[in-house]
Amino acid sequence: MSDQPMLFTPEPTYAGIPTDPGIPIPAGTYADHKAIQAHCEVCRRCRLAEQRTRVAVARGNPNAALMLIGEGPGQQEDLQGKPFVGPAGQLLDQILQSVKLDPLHDVFICNVVKCRPPGNRVPEADEVAACRGYLLEQVRLVQPKLLLLVGGTAAKGVMGETRGITKIRGQWTEWQGIPTMPIFHPSYLLRNPVRDKGGPKWLMWQDIQDVRRRFDELAR
Ligand code: URA
Repeated sequence: MSDQPMLFTPEPTYAGIPTDPGIPIPAGTYADHKAIQAHCEVCRRCRLAEQRTRVAVARGNPNAALMLIGEGPGQQEDLQGKPFVGPAGQLLDQILQSVKLDPLHDVFICNVVKCRPPGNRVPEADEVAACRGYLLEQVRLVQPKLLLLVGGTAAKGVMGETRGITKIRGQWTEWQGIPTMPIFHPSYLLRNPVRDKGGPKWLMWQDIQDVRRRFDELAR
């Protein structure tokens, strides 16, 4: 938790939805993704709102069978208003395309927080909590058949996972009844580009092939 205070809008509600981050957003609040986007654009539930340029709520296909959840927007995402459009996002797209998953049609991509943490710091627990209602509503509307948690912060933020990403990556588990796999964050791969057998890139290649197999099973 940060020492910095959370933000509040002067009004206790926005379109009937509580603005106080201590009051959860009820399931079923949003009729569609447009409504989530509209609320996020004016959201002041946490301090990340103060420094954002744009919110980066989602990209991809809202009816996709495969949903990916990352950590939070970086500089490019903050400028463009879409998740995973900077260097890490470009690598993520290449990883998906390497197993013939189309980033536009086969996946829905978002983050645990929708606003950029200043300097790309890891989002604080209270910021993740303030944004959780949007994420849960995205999951409810997409109804993914498979879920990938991109990086340790996403695994912690979504499932409360406390083990490190190297321990849990590549293992299927269930979250809210959805088969879920944590994978390495592409930023980690950018920092560790070695392709050696057993190295991060090699492990990602194993994991994404496994994801592709599960994805194909769904179509049968
Ligand atoms: N890293 C993330 O986790 N998400 C983004 O959208 C960009 C970089």
